Amino acid sequence: MRSQGPAPKHLGTISMDRTADLLATSPKAELHVHVEGTLEPELSFALARRNKMKLLYPDVEALRRAYAFTDLQSFLDLYYAGAGVLRTEEDFFDLAWAYFQRAARDQVVHAELFFDPQTHTDRGIGFEVFMPAFASAARRAREEFGLTSEWILCFLRDRSEDEALATLEEALAYREHFCGVGLDSAERGNPPAKFSRAFARAADLGLRRVAHAGEEGPAAYVREALDVLGAERIDHGVRAVEDAALVERLVREQVPLTVCPLSNVRLCVFDDLAQHNLPRLLRAGLKVTVNSDDPAYFGGYVSDNLVQLFAVHPELGAADAYALLRNSLEASFAPEDTKSAWIAQLDQLWQPADTLAL
Ligand code: ADE
Ligand code: ZN
Repeated sequence: MRSQGPAPKHLGTISMDRTADLLATSPKAELHVHVEGTLEPELSFALARRNKMKLLYPDVEALRRAYAFTDLQSFLDLYYAGAGVLRTEEDFFDLAWAYFQRAARDQVVHAELFFDPQTHTDRGIGFEVFMPAFASAARRAREEFGLTSEWILCFLRDRSEDEALATLEEALAYREHFCGVGLDSAERGNPPAKFSRAFARAADLGLRRVAHAGEEGPAAYVREALDVLGAERIDHGVRAVEDAALVERLVREQVPLTVCPLSNVRLCVFDDLAQHNLPRLLRAGLKVTVNSDDPAYFGGYVSDNLVQLFAVHPELGAADAYALLRNSLEASFAPEDTKSAWIAQLDQLWQPADTLAL
């Protein structure tokens, strides 16, 4: 869905405090969050206790202190090990339900969550354990909060394509519980083209396609994700700016980028939030959205990402805030009429009457 028009002119008059308030309280979609990355240390310890497992860290604080990453791989090592406490259907339900509860507090009206089957099937935990759990947490979120969701099955790109293809075939017994496929894990040295057959198979099955690209990897991987995998959204994509022709194309085609500012800082893609290139991406005319990636590890959920970003980027104004929120809704895989209803809700909140006096 292309933008339905420019942000209203009056938005430039909103104060910073009011913008932060509106960012936190506006309806929004989250399009880039890994369910395994929402595992808070408190829940890790609770699950370890329940499953009679011993963690490598003595307490929650010690575990949090270990979240000092130097790059993507240093995070992935801890993240995959951390998922070891997820063993039963109840564990996976508790994980997803905790995320939905937290997201509802951020006024997330729609979430599209990644899950990494290979992380679990490798440990002998099959789709029959986690898939029903994700589906029932999603059902409860819809019933209790009106929060809708979709699930996106990610292939681990540091594994073989044959393994990805086998994972996809295995997942088909649960086809109604996920809407698409994605590509995550260690990006460097694992180009999108490695998964051309797996994504072609996904396309044949009528699945949506997204891919992590241009997080640590080069702009060429973003191009490859579009051309070879048929990706409809690019997860991260911040390194696309290194290729002017690619940026032009992303703008022309309005390909959504699911950018994760706090993640990029924690994984040392940028030195700090003030150095993040999101304002530049927006100014270039890219369809940028803000997301949390792995909020339990990176120090913030989606509203934290938005509010903290605006706090350190004075060049971002109310019209940018509105655009980011609206982009998140437009770039989702929800039905068009549902998106229009959310946007009407968003516009209601951002009316001049509500904002001009501030
Ligand atoms: N898996 C979980 N978080 C990820 C990230 N930021 N990049 C790639 N794979 C991931
Ligand atoms: Zn991610």
